[in-house]
Amino acid sequence: MKLLFVNACARKQSRTLQLGRYFLEKYHQCHNDLEIEEIKICEEENLLPLNGQRLALREEAIAKKDWHHAMMKYARQWKEADCIVIAAPYWDWSFPAILKVYMENIFISDFTFAYEKDGSVGLCQGKKLIYIATAGGDAKSNMGFDYIQRVAKELGEYECHYIHASNLDVIGNDVTEILQNVKKEIDGFVKNC
Ligand SMILES: Cc1cc2nc3c(=O)[nH]c(=O)nc-3n(C[C@H](O)[C@H](O)[C@H](O)COP(=O)(O)O)c2cc1C
Repeated sequence: MKLLFVNACARKQSRTLQLGRYFLEKYHQCHNDLEIEEIKICEEENLLPLNGQRLALREEAIAKKDWHHAMMKYARQWKEADCIVIAAPYWDWSFPAILKVYMENIFISDFTFAYEKDGSVGLCQGKKLIYIATAGGDAKSNMGFDYIQRVAKELGEYECHYIHASNLDVIGNDVTEILQNVKKEIDGFVKNC
């Protein structure tokens, strides 16, 4: 089983990444056949937003159905993954902008989704999407996860789950304890997932 780990954590000491890595370790223990591919999107030099020039290049590749074109790299990884894990800190009520750029690179018509007579259909094979976040304040409701969950519907038939740690930057809170509680939640989650 192929798992794509989308690491959108910018900070070296990222708590979100700590939870992401914990999730992967525990998930691996429950799925021996797991092949994990990680993409550190904050470090990818070729992950750029579309502009006129890049859009034209991409349209040319789509017209030729050139799915091995360098611009299709991110979409190819996403399309082939059985399970997608996204770790993204809660920034400005959603996520770091690079994750939006990444998603822009995933939506390739006729490859990851296609327009049909009655609307669009997803062409990706994945079945699960787990979104992990940590927040300074309360992230029970997270527009970042809402967005990912909504766009995942266009790409395939993903069962989406949200795992988060809130209030890490509230003065006086015990960060270790909050993270520990989320790790316990992950322990329970992976057993049933
Ligand atoms: C650029 C930036 C934007 C942030 N925006 C929010 C926010 O809107 N709401 C919130 O509760 N915390 C916000 N925070 C705090 C982070 O969500 C919090 O510190 C989180 O745990 C950071 O994750 P990390 O440790 O993985 O980097 C923000 C932090 C940064 C650096």
